[in-house]
Amino acid sequence: MNKKIIIAIDGFSSTGKSTVAKQLAAALRYIYVDSGAMYRAVTFYALENDLIGVDFFYKDQLIKHLERIRISFKFNAELGFAEVYLNGQNIENEIRTLRVSNFVSKIAEISEVRKKLVEQQQEMGKEKGIVMDGRDIGTVVFPEAELKIFMTASAETRAKRRLEELQNKGQEVNYQEVLKNIEERDFIDTNRDDSPLAQAEDAVLFDNSNLSREEQFNLLLAICKKAIQKAL
Ligand code: DC
Repeated sequence: MNKKIIIAIDGFSSTGKSTVAKQLAAALRYIYVDSGAMYRAVTFYALENDLIGVDFFYKDQLIKHLERIRISFKFNAELGFAEVYLNGQNIENEIRTLRVSNFVSKIAEISEVRKKLVEQQQEMGKEKGIVMDGRDIGTVVFPEAELKIFMTASAETRAKRRLEELQNKGQEVNYQEVLKNIEERDFIDTNRDDSPLAQAEDAVLFDNSNLSREEQFNLLLAICKKAIQKAL
């Protein structure tokens, strides 16, 4: 079972991609990369530098700032996954707020941002043995990935899960607000011009609306092992 492949997991917001991707990477001893965290990191930078807000967006300025934005991941053994850093600062918690979620789709629409992040993602996957989740991993980042999974679940199921997650972190949010954010992001993510969210032709469609985390993990691990066997 030593063969290393690329496992690309795409899908809608809050389908639980990251949770299961992390578990799969740990079980397979693969590297896990949360590509959404990279778009969130750029969004956090834009917010912190007053380049985007409720009624303004200095897009051209942000594009000029891109060369100053350095995103990296560092494995945290206690947590069991890699946390995201922006110019050397750990911003793992900061990027998970609704404030960042509300602006991230706008940032992810910018081609210059996508180009920079996709290049970095491809570099991270050079040695294979990687599980990466996002929106365009199977279609743009790794079109040759040995295994592609497209995760989906109803917007209501996703909003409930997301609400619970944010409340557990002590954030004050309500269901309607979270559902609205999910529906808006679904719309922008699937309708943008550059690399819209889409199921790759050769991706396995995986609807987890009615599956527990454990059921999901077991089913997907079996799919991954089969793909690794096939690549041997
Ligand atoms: O997976 P997430 O919800 O943390 O992603 C945050 C946003 O980043 C999401 O609204 C769409 C965007 N994204 C993207 O456009 N391409 C990716 N590969 C990953 C995320």
